[in-house]
Amino acid sequence: MHLIIEQNAQQVARWAADHIIRAIQAKATKTDAPFVLGLPTGSTPLETYAELVRRHKAGEISFANVITFNMDEYVGLPEEHPESYHSFMWNNFFSHVDIKRENVHILNGNAADLEAECAAYEAAIVAAGGIDLFMGGIGEDGHIAFNEPFSSLTSRTRCKVLTEDTIRVNARFFGGDVTQVPKRALTVGVGTICDAREVMILALGPKKARAVQMGVEGAYSHVWTITALQVHPKGLLVCDEDACGELKVSTYRYFKDIEKERL
Ligand code: GLP
Repeated sequence: MHLIIEQNAQQVARWAADHIIRAIQAKATKTDAPFVLGLPTGSTPLETYAELVRRHKAGEISFANVITFNMDEYVGLPEEHPESYHSFMWNNFFSHVDIKRENVHILNGNAADLEAECAAYEAAIVAAGGIDLFMGGIGEDGHIAFNEPFSSLTSRTRCKVLTEDTIRVNARFFGGDVTQVPKRALTVGVGTICDAREVMILALGPKKARAVQMGVEGAYSHVWTITALQVHPKGLLVCDEDACGELKVSTYRYFKDIEKERL
């Protein structure tokens, strides 16, 4: 795993957007096949989306040959609800770039058969040629997508019951009312994420410091599903200084030093 430590949230966003743009451009020089991008919701990637939109409007990047797969969606929340992940993605990203509607994939949390919906999603990822780069955020308890603690590290797309902690944390998007937060979500599995050719997880702020510490220094374990990144051949964790506050000084210095060498 590689840890990138940037000064603040804005620099993390710039780093992540640059990385995505470079990856899309690099693939385009080799093949006409579309670039397949996995995407998260949450407050963490907001600035990265804004940066990608800016760069698109500046004519630096097109998403016309990009296929996307989102990580997760609440179960039972209407698509048009302002807090659905469908709304989030169209409001914050898709509506502002040249992506083709038919290239956007988001799990349908209102499907009559949720199991079939999840199986079809896995099949669609395979049909698209697999995910080139999966960007993600991280929960305070170290979850990636909605793979809560004790999710299998080989899990696939499925329906998960959200923990009380996650419901409490996400209540801020529902007027602070925990009763309004859906209790279940469809989510790609840890295995689905780790099948991507590259995984880039973003972490911002002191609330994520413990998850970052466990992800980088902790043992590979289903307790902190972020640790799955440790065994990925191309796993990247991009953090601001605050999110690195619980790392050992020696760990922090190691990653800062090797980054200098890469420049
Ligand atoms: C939810 C999402 C995750 C996200 C996490 C953190 O649980 N399912 O994909 O990483 O929230 O959200 P935030 O970035 O707002 O801290």
